[in-house]
Amino acid sequence: MQTIKLNNGVEMPQLGFGVYQIPLAETAEAVYQAIQAGYRLIDTASVYGNEKETGEGIKRAIDEGLVTREELFVTSKLFILQAPEAKAAETIEQSLTVMGLDYLDLYLIHQPYGDTYGAWRAMVAAQKAGKLRAIGVSNFKSAKMIEFVGLNEVKPQINQIEVNPWNQRIEDQEWHEKYGVQIEAWAPFAEGHHELFTNPVLAEIGAQYGKSVGQVVLRWLMQRGIVALAKSVRPERMAENIDVFDFELTKEDIEKIASLDMKESAFFDHDAPQQVEWFMNRMLDTEK
Ligand SMILES: NC(=O)c1ccc[n+]([C@@H]2O[C@H](COP(=O)([O-])OP(=O)(O)OC[C@H]3O[C@@H](n4cnc5c(N)ncnc54)[C@H](OP(=O)(O)O)[C@@H]3O)[C@@H](O)[C@H]2O)c1
Repeated sequence: MQTIKLNNGVEMPQLGFGVYQIPLAETAEAVYQAIQAGYRLIDTASVYGNEKETGEGIKRAIDEGLVTREELFVTSKLFILQAPEAKAAETIEQSLTVMGLDYLDLYLIHQPYGDTYGAWRAMVAAQKAGKLRAIGVSNFKSAKMIEFVGLNEVKPQINQIEVNPWNQRIEDQEWHEKYGVQIEAWAPFAEGHHELFTNPVLAEIGAQYGKSVGQVVLRWLMQRGIVALAKSVRPERMAENIDVFDFELTKEDIEKIASLDMKESAFFDHDAPQQVEWFMNRMLDTEK
């Protein structure tokens, strides 16, 4: 697996497996199968509600000798908290306990709301204590990322944001490269929105190499130097999505993909009032 070196020297796999929206009863098996298929980066979050099952899949793979803990790169995320500086340390401990792990390889501030600075101070302390190898943020727009780098001693190693052919984030990538913050793409397939998997431009590019639309999209992210997370509950798609290291997109292919950029989220805007309201309600639900 190709790796990327983060700004604190930690190396991470460039392609990973995400468990968002995998039904609870299927998560442990999906994680185990993903590891069997060759994935080494596993991405979950406390708010997904499946940290425990993710940990069970990891434990089974380790117990059966498929991998060692050191070969895996496990990520979880801190959801919005009303008092993160006071509660984050406890929440990190809870994630570790629930997952059955001594440390996480990456831990992210999941959403750009509330006292992200307080959360960050707690995460920096946990990183210094050896509980988190790398720390970062998620869903930060470039302006917020720049402010966050400017006002903190330790800068984020990662910003996990939506990147896919409909929302390519070309300028955002330039800003992140300038500040040494690695982009990690969520929803690389836009969860299939705008009929991604049957898009004729992507299908035609793939046909030249005997590759699927999904493989073209992931290869495009690999060539851009972006870390990508793909999710599938189907073993044949897990295998397909990781099989992207034996072909190379040309400049012409990349120009054709560039023409698909709508420069807006295929889902929602994190600054839209109704969206912020939704997140605030979600926070109240999770704090109950
Ligand atoms: N930080 C954040 O706020 C955030 C937000 C969203 C996601 N994420 C992370 O990013 C990961 C990936 O994003 P995502 O799960 O939202 O979306 P995604 O990976 O863009 O799309 C997943 C969907 O595509 C289908 N699929 C996967 N491979 C396919 C293939 N080769 N051909 C056809 N269909 C395929 C899957 O169906 P099947 O499962 O049925 O195959 C699933 O419905 C998540 O699991 C999560 O870890 C983070």
